[in-house]
Amino acid sequence: MRIARDLPSLRAELAQLGRLALVPTMGALHEGHLSLVAAARREAEAVAASIFVNPLQFGPNEDLARYPRDEAGDLAKLEAAGCDLVWMPSVEVMYPPGRATEIEVKGPAEGWEGTARPGHFRGVATVCAKLFNQTGAAVALFGEKDWQQFQVIRRMVRDLDLPIRIIGCPTVREADGLALSSRNRFLSAEERAKAPLLYATLQRVAESLRAGMPAAEAIPAAKAELARQDFTVDYLALVEPETLRETDALPGRLIAAARLGSVRLLDNIAAP
Ligand code: PAJ
Repeated sequence: MRIARDLPSLRAELAQLGRLALVPTMGALHEGHLSLVAAARREAEAVAASIFVNPLQFGPNEDLARYPRDEAGDLAKLEAAGCDLVWMPSVEVMYPPGRATEIEVKGPAEGWEGTARPGHFRGVATVCAKLFNQTGAAVALFGEKDWQQFQVIRRMVRDLDLPIRIIGCPTVREADGLALSSRNRFLSAEERAKAPLLYATLQRVAESLRAGMPAAEAIPAAKAELARQDFTVDYLALVEPETLRETDALPGRLIAAARLGSVRLLDNIAAP
């Protein structure tokens, strides 16, 4: 496995590789990330992963400083997963002084995470466009775990005619249903025990909708139940899967963000 930390060495490494699949990450890798690498291997001749904790997508009061970092562990996992190339630029390499261009996606980037984290998707879209251009990947893989992010990237690629195919991969979960996330390590034992309730609640709502209960009834009940279990619910909503517009029609996507202590959990499922 090769490692590139600046653009000249990235270009030299890319020249040795065939049609490329890219897995963009911020490191602190877990089985969710590695499932994307496994899917990438089925999609192209060569697989690159990027590790870059992107300051542009963190708000001033967010957890950039405490975002977990484990370079040695990440590299060992990527090597074992069959990754060919790791692109790990510094902040200075990614954002040289004087940069003045950012990408703002509207539509699916508006509302939900877009409201909770102003500027977040501008940072995500900008860094992903740069990663796509830097690597020239034919395919990039994203987790459905971050459903809104996945739709924002798909929209950007279509709107800017970027020559890359975006593939979504299913959410990898713990045995009790909790979606894997680099931030789960910050849950206390008590919070960790409650955390799977978010997914269980989404499943219950999906069941109720399938059985014919209106979203306007099923969703407030679910929010109240989560609040009783000490979740602070930012949102729980049924949306059109691609536009992220709120809907009461099926099929849709149930998306949720809720805080347990200092940890913000995100999850989503198809409904039905
Ligand atoms: P990060 O949170 O490191 O996630 C990298 C990729 O892994 C994303 O596509 C995310 O959806 C996917 N992923 C995370 N948890 C997952 C799980 N439990 N199951 C399946 N896939 C999972 O998302 C980002 O980084 C950044 O915003 C990035 C796209 C790299 C841009 O900076």
